[in-house]
Amino acid sequence: MSTSVADRAPAGEVVLSLAGVSKRFGAVQALSDVHMDVRAGEVVALVGDNGAGKSTLVKVISGVYEPDGGDITFAGRKVTVGGPSEAQALGIATVFQDLALCDNLDVVANLFLGQEQLAGPFIDEVGMEKEAWRLLKTLSAKIPSVRIPIAALSGGQRQTVAIARSLVGSPQVVMLDEPTAALGVAQTAEVLNLIERLRETGLGVILISHNMADVQAVADRIVVLRLGKNAAEFRVEDASTAELVAAITGASDNVVASRASRRSASTQTETHIESGEQDG
Ligand SMILES: Nc1ncnc2c1ncn2[C@@H]1O[C@H](COP(=O)(O)OP(=O)(O)O)[C@@H](O)[C@H]1O
Ligand SMILES: [Mg+2]
Repeated sequence: MSTSVADRAPAGEVVLSLAGVSKRFGAVQALSDVHMDVRAGEVVALVGDNGAGKSTLVKVISGVYEPDGGDITFAGRKVTVGGPSEAQALGIATVFQDLALCDNLDVVANLFLGQEQLAGPFIDEVGMEKEAWRLLKTLSAKIPSVRIPIAALSGGQRQTVAIARSLVGSPQVVMLDEPTAALGVAQTAEVLNLIERLRETGLGVILISHNMADVQAVADRIVVLRLGKNAAEFRVEDASTAELVAAITGASDNVVASRASRRSASTQTETHIESGEQDG
């Protein structure tokens, strides 16, 4: 298992492309005709209300679900992702929301769980420990020791370990499902720094988040899903919080959107603000 960056796509090149992706669960059309591109060295935020289809899309990309239709192109080739280990082998890593770390095992053991490095017939503890430090250094991560159990780490440090683990195997795309949902302010800032480090190393990053402040702080582009469809797409510098909320809720006269719009309304006309007073 190599963790070199030699075969990574040049920054700006599309590494992952979805076209016409659909997925139905019984009567629920969870995704219809979804498209999304992710470039090397770019953070794409995937946002949307509960039930919008974000997790389903992540699971389609990571091979947990087979899509009913559509194409996934990775590194220039059309691919079928047969399962999470196949995704990992292709170069698509996922940090799921529950992190799936083993509390009683140390950092090294968690990083290489199920993908231990061998030296001949033996587990290469020294090699793995070195690689663990290298990965954490890549992330400028603040972990006191790689030989302490996960149980002794803070929430932010656990997220760090889960992100570092996703880098084992040298992926080109990393997906993070709500990485800051359970974190306080300082730890959130730490994780946002990690995401910037991922971008700097040339990875394509897909960030799922409910937190518009996080999204606006770290994303380059924002893809909005609503009811399983592409609702809007913004470059982060072009989208106000009000516009984002409006795209997520699907109504500019919706009460949530109008509240957000009033907060950032200093440059907007009075008529616009007044029309926002009606409840949606
Ligand atoms: N395994 C499943 N079985 C049935 N319905 C599902 C399943 N997973 C998701 N759904 C439905 O698909 C829609 C999209 O869900 P999801 O992708 O979890 O949205 P999000 O992550 O944006 O909140 C929802 O209506 C949800 O109830
Ligand atoms: Mg979800």
